Amino acid sequence: MTAPTTTLPTWLADPYRSYTYGYPHKTAYRHFAEPKPLADLWAGEPTTNLFGYLHLPFCEMRCGFCNLFTTANPADDLVEQYLGALQREAETLRTVLPGARAVRLAVGGGTPTYLTVPQLERAFAALATAVGATPDEAVTSVETSPATATGDRMAYLRGIGVERVSIGVQSMVIDEVHGVGRPQQQRQVLDALDTIREVGPPRLNVDLMYGLAGQDAASWLESLRRVGRWAPDEVFIYPLYVRPLTGIGRRGRSWDDERRELYRIARDYLIDAGYEQSSMRRFHLPGQAGADDEYTCQRDGMVGLGCGARSYTSAVHYSREFAVGRTGVKEIIADYVATERFDVATHGFVLSAEERMRRWVLQSLLHTDGLDPAQVRAHTGLNPVTELPRLAELVDLGLAEWSAQRLRLTAAGMELSDAIGPALYSGRVHELSAGHELR
Ligand SMILES: C[S@@+](CC[C@H](N)C(=O)[O-])C[C@H]1O[C@@H](n2cnc3c(N)ncnc32)[C@H](O)[C@@H]1O
Ligand code: SF4
Repeated sequence: MTAPTTTLPTWLADPYRSYTYGYPHKTAYRHFAEPKPLADLWAGEPTTNLFGYLHLPFCEMRCGFCNLFTTANPADDLVEQYLGALQREAETLRTVLPGARAVRLAVGGGTPTYLTVPQLERAFAALATAVGATPDEAVTSVETSPATATGDRMAYLRGIGVERVSIGVQSMVIDEVHGVGRPQQQRQVLDALDTIREVGPPRLNVDLMYGLAGQDAASWLESLRRVGRWAPDEVFIYPLYVRPLTGIGRRGRSWDDERRELYRIARDYLIDAGYEQSSMRRFHLPGQAGADDEYTCQRDGMVGLGCGARSYTSAVHYSREFAVGRTGVKEIIADYVATERFDVATHGFVLSAEERMRRWVLQSLLHTDGLDPAQVRAHTGLNPVTELPRLAELVDLGLAEWSAQRLRLTAAGMELSDAIGPALYSGRVHELSAGHELR
């Protein structure tokens, strides 16, 4: 059952307000008044169950829609300098977190496979230095793109024990891809998917996007059907978002309805094809619930390596500065490769108990597992049901329901995840994000 948009309160009026990938978003991070020594931030934190994240901010192309922190076609020596900085950062982390051990690893970008195999070897060595685990010891996921998912790289990743590879396809209709400013070639997509299945890591995720110019129900179904030939273990479907400084502008309000319709088509198609839904974006074959790209473990710490990576302790999230525009990204990478000392955090967000409670709520409610308020209370001291009256409103609106002590979004709620998420952010996070100047 789907609630009609007209019955929704104003705080849910924009169905595509923002994607809650992590809370708080990096746009809410600010410079700390004093740099915080990492040794202090991590003192007393569990470090044997970590998520290690490595950020490689390079791509062979810059797509018109992309709002990620990345730079296209960097000079060769920039990649080399970056690898040098990663190693320095990793060695510092090793001294700050001597007993650290990651149980999950993710390498994201950009496009990590922009790097050659020898460069990837160095990147994985740095990650192992930082978080005490290699891909054969921790469940590992790596992002790739059609032009860079080559046989040598895929075979290398499989050989070192990478379990999952995630490739951006976006659409199997090439005009739709070109229409959003992504210079992809269809032959490369087909070859890349064949290569991954022949020699690459065992688990394949395919990213697709909906809401593209010229895309309609029939062409969207065609994309879904055609990627089915490679039987992806997971499919991520992303509604197109276009932010300032990322190239293309868009048409008006009916785009929301268009995206909503395309979402429903994909959801129904994938569920019919045997996939299980775990969020508005993620669908997976049965038995593939873990090790995905969506970081949903509310308790574990995250150690980020690289210039766009975030790190999470239980009370402080930190990263380097964030940019999307070409100049801003270049400046931040230049600053990263010139850094000698990595033992302090200068930029981030200190989470109060209330913010930790909100984070926990967001990371569970927006997933099919749902929210267990008792768990939130045990870990933050706050009861989300009394702290967040909007949760009860979601139930009244038919967007969430209780079962077995858990609050879960209904189908109508799940498709409004990008409205429900931001509606549960604190006023402070909204203010900070609104005040963030995009570089
Ligand atoms: C790091 S990329 C995937 C790997 C690789 N860089 C590539 O593009 O093939 C992550 C995914 O985020 C999605 N994405 C990026 N910007 C987006 C936007 N503005 N709106 C919707 N989805 C977006 C795309 O589906 C993309 O594949
Ligand atoms: S979508 Fe992927 S390839 Fe394109 S610019 Fe973004 S990270 Fe790079």
